[in-house]
Amino acid sequence: MARPALFFSLAASATALWASASSAPVSLTKFVDSLPIPKRILLNGLKGAGPFELTVPISQFQAQIHRDLPATTEWGYDGSSPGPTIEVERGQTVRIHWLNKLPATHLFPTPKGADAIKPDVRAVTHLHGAKVTQTDITDRLHDNDGWPDAWTVSGQEQIAEYPNDQSARTLWYHDHAMGETGRNVAAGLAGLYEIHDAYERSLNLPSGAYEIPLEISAKAINADGSLSYTSDIGNEFYGNAIAVNGKLWPYLEVEPRKYRFRIVNISNARSYGMKLLDTTDHSAGPAFYQIGSDGGFLATPAVLNDPTDPSAPRLILAPAERADVVIDFSKYAGKTFLLQNNSRDIGEVEQSLPEVMLFKVGPSVSAPDTSSSPSQMQSIQRMNPADASVTRQVIFDQMTMPDGTIMLTMNGKSWMDPIVERPVLGATEVWELANTLTDTHPFHIHGVEFQVLDRRLFDVQAYLATGKINYLAPAVVPAQNEMGWKDVVRVLPQMVTRIIMKFSPYPGYYVYHCHILEHEDMDMMRPFQIVPGP
Ligand code: C2O
Ligand code: CU
Ligand code: CU
Repeated sequence: MARPALFFSLAASATALWASASSAPVSLTKFVDSLPIPKRILLNGLKGAGPFELTVPISQFQAQIHRDLPATTEWGYDGSSPGPTIEVERGQTVRIHWLNKLPATHLFPTPKGADAIKPDVRAVTHLHGAKVTQTDITDRLHDNDGWPDAWTVSGQEQIAEYPNDQSARTLWYHDHAMGETGRNVAAGLAGLYEIHDAYERSLNLPSGAYEIPLEISAKAINADGSLSYTSDIGNEFYGNAIAVNGKLWPYLEVEPRKYRFRIVNISNARSYGMKLLDTTDHSAGPAFYQIGSDGGFLATPAVLNDPTDPSAPRLILAPAERADVVIDFSKYAGKTFLLQNNSRDIGEVEQSLPEVMLFKVGPSVSAPDTSSSPSQMQSIQRMNPADASVTRQVIFDQMTMPDGTIMLTMNGKSWMDPIVERPVLGATEVWELANTLTDTHPFHIHGVEFQVLDRRLFDVQAYLATGKINYLAPAVVPAQNEMGWKDVVRVLPQMVTRIIMKFSPYPGYYVYHCHILEHEDMDMMRPFQIVPGP
């Protein structure tokens, strides 16, 4: 559902999102299950030239997602949701066979507005943040990037080759079938993928049992343990419960020492603003030292949730954003902390889910903590807008269709409209992402990583009348944890967010889109092509 105005949007969430009994708030005892760690597939341990082959089945199964619920039917990769964490070494070519073994019937009813001509169950996997070649989008069985129309049906496999020629970072894989992404990801189709390298190892970060992924998803749970999904393809899916690594409201027992957490928002639509609070006296917990974001390490850690600074920023993660965070529990033996979510702070209007998970700090360490929390990482050269050969605008807008429904668009175009943007391989471009709407849209682009230049308030009414952008205030530089390489950026309402990127190293067909999956499914997604140079 688009949000033409704030009042509208409140009404829309009240009626559209919560009308179905299935998404009524659940009353479950929280923090009774320990945090599961998804299985790790360590391809980085393999020796030899490769490419290394891996088959990952995509299927339906049952899992216990909360102590007091009957088993839940869900979809996942390799029998789990989230799927296994696939770990590779930089430069190691991996070929994954994404084998579609889904049942004939979808886990969720077909939402209103879905494409009735295509098979109801279809899937294609995209490795979010990966750089891959993608030159033939008609060959759906050899599809590296996960072209939204190159879906497979049960019995088919998509063979995708990943060169992994990228520095250490946290990627994630998820479904990307056109018109189906929201429904398929809500069913469970997501998982982590880590690229490692020698530089990362030289940092001596907490590792092994002390390096833990936190994959946060919003789910809609019924009293019988089943999952549900929005009944209208246009409604953002906020759910009524939070799962971390697939369990609802889990707890994690930690030692009083440093940990590295890879925090990934795998939710369809929900953003989070998170900090730790002592459950006894509600004082602030240890600070988050954010050392990395979507595209690897930052140059210097961003200190979030500093307990000595009441105005310190929280960790905000929009859908698909990642944060690599070191938390030091060494001064907090015996304490319990709630990972608290305050999404009101960040302008979300859906039903509030203020609790994410617990951290229970034990009395002592099992071995001395010899890991480091770096105060400095490799420098990142800031890109210069003067080096851009092209500046493009992407206008986040809405259209009222003849039948009265509202459709969200970018530049007034839909998925099926012909390609407009054809950056030349190797070119640097600035894209101005202008949001005329009243809510935040997390913009994501495939095939490249970018830097965030700035954000600037503009006169939306004047723009709608004249097509010209008049700025109303000076440009605001991004927060410190947005100063690294990114592939998702929060495009704030009424602002122009400028990003800069170099289109390399591969030519091919890619997409850019809003990462609120229900927006993406209703055409807030566009194809583009990186064309080989002259
Ligand atoms: Cu995370 Cu186009 O996707
Ligand atoms: Cu992506
Ligand atoms: Cu959006």
